[in-house]
Amino acid sequence: MFSEQTNIGINGFIRIPGDKSISHRSIIIPSISSGICEISNILKSDDVLQTINAFKEMGVQIKEESNKVIINGKGLQSLKKPKKELYLGNSGTSARLLTGLLASQNFDTVLTGDKSLSSRPMKRITNPLTEMGAEIITQDGKLPLFVKGKSLKNCKIQIELPSAQIKSGLILAALNTEGTSCINEQHITRDHTEIMLKTFGAEIETKKYGNSSEIIVNGKKNLTPKNIDVPADLSSSAFFIVAALINKNSNITLENININPTRNGLLIALEKMGANIKILNQKTRAGEIVADINVKSSELNGCELNQEMAKLMIDEFPILSVAASQANSASYFKGLDELRVKESDRLELIHHNLNMCGCFSEIKDNNLFINPLKNKEIVNPEIRTDFDHRIAMSFAVLGSKIGKLHINESDSISTSFPSFADQFNKAGGKLS
Ligand code: S3P
Repeated sequence: MFSEQTNIGINGFIRIPGDKSISHRSIIIPSISSGICEISNILKSDDVLQTINAFKEMGVQIKEESNKVIINGKGLQSLKKPKKELYLGNSGTSARLLTGLLASQNFDTVLTGDKSLSSRPMKRITNPLTEMGAEIITQDGKLPLFVKGKSLKNCKIQIELPSAQIKSGLILAALNTEGTSCINEQHITRDHTEIMLKTFGAEIETKKYGNSSEIIVNGKKNLTPKNIDVPADLSSSAFFIVAALINKNSNITLENININPTRNGLLIALEKMGANIKILNQKTRAGEIVADINVKSSELNGCELNQEMAKLMIDEFPILSVAASQANSASYFKGLDELRVKESDRLELIHHNLNMCGCFSEIKDNNLFINPLKNKEIVNPEIRTDFDHRIAMSFAVLGSKIGKLHINESDSISTSFPSFADQFNKAGGKLS
């Protein structure tokens, strides 16, 4: 894909697709509830389709209509042994959440994925599950995973890494485990699993202590079916928000965006940078906070973010770095270790591609320093993405400001936002 400078700015009402994290959970939780659930506005991207396919392979009736998915759940114990291994493509969320869910089933499964997913660490989920008695064989800590289904024992588990995927995998294992399990996360992470399970009547309680939280799950309780209207994705919105901020004559409105406070770090960071962003019509729907977001072109300042902020916006650093590269002063983002084990080594790719675009950046001890005062001309317009959707979209946005960039392997964008190029061009972008 090529991205060129826009001469008219980024404007209009943009339809952002459903939230990816909530969409995965909107397949998983209804599939083990006891009845029919209608899911509207679900994200139909490659990652979510992998989760849908996995549950179809396990015998769940899932009907896909143009604007809805209808799931006929038959209860916590109703999943069937799939006839073949479950292929999860690029989707880390499917892999970590399903490992937890499958560890407490009464059949064995094998989980596989694409090259990127097969290189990502899985011990972070299999080790804590082992504390519950799970038996999972990894290939040197990676996929393919052989998950032996068995009854697990409830226990108290401490999660050291900040990861909603690990937490959610453990919660799903605890749902089908007799008695009370306690999951302690040292750093609060996105809580969509807990919120949705509460609306399905699960016996789950969360206690917050400063930056950490404890989730208490009483297992083997039936889940009551519920219809879900998936709010739009803040992580996908982020590309349009930054594009509007850094390009002159821009004014966009994004409707019904999920601004869950465990995930809204990007908005806080951009506000610190002086962005003209207004949050309108805020309301709570099924426990999730949603709002409309209006964004106008802004002169941005640099900012310093500590490692706690990194947990509230882990997926947004590629696009925040693009914003920082176009600000009036330097930025410093700390504690980005987890970016190294995402769909690509995002820290390295942000640094490499910014420098190729003539934007000054440095990495020290997994902290990222960006200084736009040292920016030069584009050095090499070829953007290396390593098939990472968020790197591809972030540098497409940078191209709209600084000049023609060639985004390699841009097909990966369908992982989370298949209509990105169409929407971006409708708003005034120039992607081809
Ligand atoms: C996700 C959690 C995050 C995030 C990913 C989606 C989820 O991963 O990066 O895109 O849906 O739970 P970690 O929990 O591993 O940080």
